[in-house]
Amino acid sequence: MFTESAAATRTTTSNPAFRIDNFDVADSDLPEFRDMPFENINELHLDHPGANDPEYRKRRDYIAGLAKNFRETGVITDVDYMEQEQEIWRIVAGRLEEIHARRASKFYLQAKKDLGISNDRIPQLSEMNRRLQRLSNFRLAPIEGLVDTRAFLSWLYYRTMLSTQYIRHHSRPEYTPEPDIVHEAIGHIPMFTNRDFADFSQFIGHGARVATDEQIEELGRLYWFTVEFGLIEEDGEVKAYGAGLLSSFGELDHAFSDRVERRPFDLDEVLITSYEYSDMQPVLYVIPSYAELKEVTRRYIERIAG
Ligand SMILES: [Fe+2]
Repeated sequence: MFTESAAATRTTTSNPAFRIDNFDVADSDLPEFRDMPFENINELHLDHPGANDPEYRKRRDYIAGLAKNFRETGVITDVDYMEQEQEIWRIVAGRLEEIHARRASKFYLQAKKDLGISNDRIPQLSEMNRRLQRLSNFRLAPIEGLVDTRAFLSWLYYRTMLSTQYIRHHSRPEYTPEPDIVHEAIGHIPMFTNRDFADFSQFIGHGARVATDEQIEELGRLYWFTVEFGLIEEDGEVKAYGAGLLSSFGELDHAFSDRVERRPFDLDEVLITSYEYSDMQPVLYVIPSYAELKEVTRRYIERIAG
């Protein structure tokens, strides 16, 4: 996820003349992580449940610091999670799994198994990264917090997802106002094992590197209504594949309630539909398949890239 408020800045754009279907991008094609400018990384917000807990803040900042090391060394540092952190994971992962059995896309359910993500312990980015690369040539890179939209999306061009490693505060296991390892590992990471979804994400990254500021807003909306809050029709039933849904009991309940209008996915409509970052969505969009999402997005990005 990325910040809504930060002004879009061209951060990782270096060479706009590349092929859109460069799916075989290799580690050697990636820019140096140490060259990534991250001036817009957010600190902990005052409304975070851990904002007034000095020990939590210290721990979160320590784990965030490991991401800074990554940018120097290119090596993901495993986190030695404490028992209290493992307990938060067990509570949240266990409860979510029950709801997923009814509500999650069947692809997602299988993908979680393929990545070895269990309810017993917090998975390490290093192990998920290894499996993800093997399955779909996608990568994970640790990040210490939210970054601006263009910077975040641009890394998808390199089939790389920036991912936090710290976990939410123990006082509110069901809630976090910022991405954490629950949101990343339960919400986002399994879906990148899907080739069509991974390619679609890469198209968004391609667009982010050449988009005008107005088009970055459009890409942010597309990302929001798919990667974060997307629904899919499978065997005549609507299922969730968006990370904001799959990592939140409240959002999942809401998405399938009669308070939400579930519309067939329409790219042109999504591109102009604004959203409230902190509110539950009144409208969500249902894609017919990941392959279809990939193809309509390819056509749109080809239009942007000219
Ligand atoms: Fe997210």
